[in-house]
Amino acid sequence: MGKVIAVAQQKGGAGKTMLAAQFAVALAGEGRVALLDIDPQGSLTVWGKLRDGAPKAAHEVRVESVSGWRLASELEKLKAAYDYVLIDTPPVIDSDARRAIRAADLVLIPMNPAPPDLWAAEGTLKLAAEEKRKTALVFNRAPAASRLRKRLEAEIGARGLTLLPVALANRAGYANAFADGLGVTEAGPTTQAADELRAAAAALKDLLV
Ligand SMILES: Nc1ncnc2c1ncn2[C@@H]1O[C@H](COP(=O)(O)OP(=O)(O)O)[C@@H](O)[C@H]1O
Ligand SMILES: [Mg+2]
Repeated sequence: MGKVIAVAQQKGGAGKTMLAAQFAVALAGEGRVALLDIDPQGSLTVWGKLRDGAPKAAHEVRVESVSGWRLASELEKLKAAYDYVLIDTPPVIDSDARRAIRAADLVLIPMNPAPPDLWAAEGTLKLAAEEKRKTALVFNRAPAASRLRKRLEAEIGARGLTLLPVALANRAGYANAFADGLGVTEAGPTTQAADELRAAAAALKDLLV
């Protein structure tokens, strides 16, 4: 059975769709990967369509979109056939997002290292705790070092929450790769973004064992 990672965070623009795509591509170098888009906005589905025609797309990543009562059965199907299933969720905890969190081996919560993003994560953290799901926060668009980032790291640690030990910086490379249906590890395998992403993906895998 594959591992299910639900990428969730009520804050829009935190990087859910970006991280789902980037991690999917990085993990696709090591196993079979599927993405499930349950956000009605469908950005990940568009990325998947771009990917179909992208010559640099080195790995196969299946992208499915589904909602409502079909979600549970689709997820079962994908879990049986893939090593990793990443779910991109909408910025609300609706019934579909609940289903995704319930089904997840890990709930990955992207956030900018700033208090409003942690506040926005509370609903997801609470639901994951109720469902006894493992969670990990991950800093996205993070400055290398800032007083606020240190403060957030301390607060997350003091609360006993898990923070992915590798943060993703704000890099044009992520947005450019996404716009071409790619991951940074494909668009520019020797870039800083790719190094950072590979390190983050390795840390993510460690959380899944
Ligand atoms: N690390 C990053 N560096 C640069 N741009 C990013 C990064 N992460 C996300 N973005 C950009 O920020 C915007 C919001 O990201 P997105 O993944 O759509 O957020 P969400 O799905 O949580 O609403 C998008 O335009 C995306 O390209
Ligand atoms: Mg999104």
